[in-house]
Amino acid sequence: MSNDEVPKETKLRPFQAHIKGAMGMGAQAIARLFRAAVRYVENIHVVPVGKRLHPLPLRIMHWVNALAMIVMITSGWGIYDDYVIISGLHFPKALRLGDWAAESLLWHFAGMWFLAINGLIYLLYGAITGRFRNKLLPIRFSDVLKAVREALSLKIAHDDITHYNAVQKLLYIVVIVAGISQVATGLAIWKPIQFSWLVGLFGGFQGARLLHFLGMVVIVGFLFVHVALSLLVPSTLWAMITGGPRIPRHTSNREVET
Ligand code: HEM
Repeated sequence: MSNDEVPKETKLRPFQAHIKGAMGMGAQAIARLFRAAVRYVENIHVVPVGKRLHPLPLRIMHWVNALAMIVMITSGWGIYDDYVIISGLHFPKALRLGDWAAESLLWHFAGMWFLAINGLIYLLYGAITGRFRNKLLPIRFSDVLKAVREALSLKIAHDDITHYNAVQKLLYIVVIVAGISQVATGLAIWKPIQFSWLVGLFGGFQGARLLHFLGMVVIVGFLFVHVALSLLVPSTLWAMITGGPRIPRHTSNREVET
């Protein structure tokens, strides 16, 4: 077949392929350029306006809670010593707040208001700002096992202080639940008539008292681990005082892990 006899469509095909290829490359280059521009704009706008790892309200609540908890624990030991639950178990006088039970009780009632009101604000803050969802969830059992194994082999990996590891998340959730339980069991012991339904929920007055004591054990156990870890990784302690690094608004544990 001579060149003149080649159908017009067939003659055009290589030329069209060239145009299409060139257009495709052009489109890809434009898309790449666009993505780079978006990244650039995001970087200049998101990083400087990102919130601190621990915003000021959270830090105030944390330290008020720490102080209130210490008052509640040490004054609680003073009250306990007057009417023990485990015979033979007494707390040393040097660790008790208040010289006698009545004085310890006054401290306990004073600290209670700070703990309950501050705790309630912290719960609302955590739920409304999404902090609980972003920082404390999700927790995977396999991650907890991995973090425990690492901790037991003394590998405390905390290079990135903006993310809690699975064990930290679990400990924080346990202590938050223990704090809520302390307020509830405390109310039941304080006003057993007015809160008789709460007393019933805890299996009677002695049941509420025992749960109140066990809650204290959990919180004191948490405190030992918590304070030891924050001293082992001082950058976390410094961050809880100064606020820590600024983090981009859209970054959360949830997004990084899933
Ligand atoms: C008095 C000594 C305390 C010290 C030195 C301390 C230190 C710290 C530090 C450094 C953090 C940040 C951890 C991190 O970024 O890895 C933190 C967070 C936290 N602490 Fe404490 N803490 C103390 C007392 C308490 C007490 C008494 C409680 C409760 C019973 C508590 C509950 C929490 C919780 C729930 C968080 C996580 C807060 C959040 O991110 O929403 N702390 N603490």
